Amino acid sequence: MSAFDQLNALLQEIKSAHPQNAEELEQFRIRFLGTKNVIKPLMGEIKTVPNEQKKDFGQLINRTVSAAEAKFNALKAELEAAAEDSDAQHLDLTAPGEPLELGSRHPIAITMNRIVSIFERIGFVVADGPEIEDDWHNFTAMNTPEDHPARDMQDTFYLLNSTEMLLRTHTSPVQARTMTSQQPPIRIIAPGRVYRNETVSARSHCQFHQVEGLYIDEGVSFADMKQTLLYFAKEMFGAPKIRLRPSFFPFTEPSAEMDVWIGMDNERNYRLSKGTGWLEIMGCGMVDPDVLEMCGIDSKKYSGFAFGMGIERQALRLYDIGDIRYFFENDVRFLRQFASAM
Ligand code: PHE
Repeated sequence: MSAFDQLNALLQEIKSAHPQNAEELEQFRIRFLGTKNVIKPLMGEIKTVPNEQKKDFGQLINRTVSAAEAKFNALKAELEAAAEDSDAQHLDLTAPGEPLELGSRHPIAITMNRIVSIFERIGFVVADGPEIEDDWHNFTAMNTPEDHPARDMQDTFYLLNSTEMLLRTHTSPVQARTMTSQQPPIRIIAPGRVYRNETVSARSHCQFHQVEGLYIDEGVSFADMKQTLLYFAKEMFGAPKIRLRPSFFPFTEPSAEMDVWIGMDNERNYRLSKGTGWLEIMGCGMVDPDVLEMCGIDSKKYSGFAFGMGIERQALRLYDIGDIRYFFENDVRFLRQFASAM
């Protein structure tokens, strides 16, 4: 048999070969592609081929080698796919799944939700406003005109492309938004994030959360406010009594700071209240008639009270946390501790 015929026979064999498993495929590889493969000796035969046929012979060699390589790669892919299929058939659908890690609520959200639900129980509804607020709602409508010194106490972040827009410094602008869009009776609770231009430390942060409350109707008195806040203090802290100290806010008159009695039973109470037994919780007061009028509500007919409290400070107290920055660092080792408190 000439070298030509032998090569042609090998090419045929390669084309019709069909190894059924990995072992047969390996034999195919050794026979046609291994270091001692059967094509190699025929390459040497080129010197016995007449000159005018050398070109054809060379091409036939190349075709045979490529056919072997192509076949090997195709068969290998085929066998691998088949193996995967049979793995899939062995998949046990009744086996227990990979456990999903459950998240937990953020301590700030837990505290805020508690406050909101305490007020919802006595008929307050949740109201909302934007965190990027305009100057009018944040300051002017809250009785703090442009040159009022009280603006210094709440320095904030302004937007570069508009001197009218700022990050709200408190949730009080939701008061103005509610009063300008609806007439009394008004009974809202407004939780949300606020911002101030303050140096971040263990006690203060440039972003924090507040809950605002507003109650406006005919004949609402200071006594109504006191009773409502006492109810809150009892529900939230189990406090038996509250104390109102005279204070000042531009948008309430008279204004007060409310403290709750946490007692002096233990070291912790003593530390939290600085030895007085009283814990400062929120600012409050009767809505200034000027604010009512600015927002389109008849101050001769209606009166009301408002209050606003910071959430971080309360959460620090409730959970005995030493540093406000933990709330914003998103360290799961910290957050995980509140998983059972939701
Ligand atoms: N907005 C005030 C603050 O951030 C709190 C407050 C709200 C006081 C409503 C009185 C009435 O300090």
